[in-house]
This record gives sequence, C-alpha cells and structure tokens, in this order.
Amino acid sequence: MSDQESFEPHILGFLCNWCSYAGADLAGVSRFQYPTNLRVIRVMCSGRVDPALVLDALIWGIDGIVILGCHPGDCHYLTGNYYTERRMRTLQTVLDMIGVKPERLIVDWVSASEGERFANLIGDFTEKIVELGPLTDDLPPEELRTRLLAARDALSQQRMRWLVNREKELLEKGDVFGEQVDEAEFHEVKFEALAREYEKNRILHSISDQVLSVQEIAKTTAIPPREVLKNLIAMEQKGLVTVSRIDGVNPKYRRLGGGESL
Ligand code: FES
Repeated sequence: MSDQESFEPHILGFLCNWCSYAGADLAGVSRFQYPTNLRVIRVMCSGRVDPALVLDALIWGIDGIVILGCHPGDCHYLTGNYYTERRMRTLQTVLDMIGVKPERLIVDWVSASEGERFANLIGDFTEKIVELGPLTDDLPPEELRTRLLAARDALSQQRMRWLVNREKELLEKGDVFGEQVDEAEFHEVKFEALAREYEKNRILHSISDQVLSVQEIAKTTAIPPREVLKNLIAMEQKGLVTVSRIDGVNPKYRRLGGGESL
C-alpha cells in the first residue's frame, strides 16, 4: 500500500447552523455516503469564522479545512457569507505566501435541502487532500509551525483585522469621505501590510525560545539582515524584545513575555 493510499487526512468543517449543518444532517438521514475524515464545528453563521481560527486548526495538525455556509443571498444574517468569501480569499493568499498550499482551505455553499451536494463536496475535498498529502508535506514541521504562528499573529493584529474585515464596505461603499476605493490598489495595500506584519511576527517567533543575532535571525527567516535589524529596533522600543547578551560584537536578541502589542 502506497503512503498516499494509507494517508487518512484530518479534515475540519465549519458549518453554519441554518443551512450547511442542516444539509449535513440531511445527508446523514438520507444515508448519503461520505468520508469519515470530517469533524464538524457548528457555527451560527459562516461569517463568524475568524481566519485566525483556521490557522489555529492548521497549527493543531488539520490537513484540510472546509467552510460551508448558506448560498449567497440566503445568509440568515443577510451578508455573513459575503464577508466569509472575502476573508477566506485573503487567507488563501496568505497561506500561499507562507508556503502552505491554499487548496487546503475551501469555502462553499450548501443549503438545508442539499444533503447529496454536501456528501459529494466532502468526498471531493477529502480526495483532493489525500492527493496533496499531509500538511507536513508542504513544509518541515518546525518551519511550518513557526510560519503558521506568525501568520496567525499577523492576522490577529488589530489593524490587520480592520483591513480584512472592512474590505467589503470599503470596496462597495467607498471610504469615510464617500470616495470609491480602487480594488486592485486596496489588495496591494492589504497584502503589503500583511506581509510586513507577518515579517515582524516571523522574527518574533524565531527568538521565542532561543537567543539569536541579527545574522542568525536573517538566516532562519530568510529576511534580509537590514530588515531584521530595523524590525528588532522597533520591537525593542515596544518592549517586545531585548538584547540578551553580546557575543563579540554581535548582540543576541530574545523575545520578552509581555510588552506592547505589535
Ligand atoms: S447564516 Fe448561513 S452563512 Fe450566514
């Protein structure tokens, strides 16, 4: 038996209470067959699923995540699923950026009467994840964990939450002055900001349980030494890192427990 055949992926589904969870229920009652790899978390609306939660699930070792909600226009809270779609598209780009295959996350819609569609969707997704292999095929385990932690912390940062969560209003209704926001420009700004936050958190996580010099951090994180130093100076001012000791002429940094947030 090949490794791919013996691989049983861990799949997590966030299902909205009003449509998809009922659809899953119908699949069970109607005895539609689907893989048993899925574990379900029921949420009141798909719009309640925070991207940081998805990253947490990957940190715990989940190989694939499916978010199911009501069809567009049918959300019981009117617009929850539109937010889900935008947020998760952003998250897929972030996953790609950190080296995790974005296909490991899907968003789809299943109504309460679509038991068969639910079963087919879970079957296809499970097959896809088996093809992709375990999450640790994407990156070595330690590297994977550090990158996911850094991405989660970047997306949990207040400014990033604002940017990701306000996207729908900003693009559809314009900014506070009522001016139309250009979609391409907005995405460019958003991903630049996310990349910067990710970089900061990547540096911070690299010195969570070891002391490293600027050069060593640069080597571990593949961030240019100049950028590492710039970030460390800013983080030192915020009380997030400190110089632990000096080796020759090289200061070695470590992370501090408390301090101001990024
Ligand atoms: S209630 Fe189902 S997606 Fe919002």
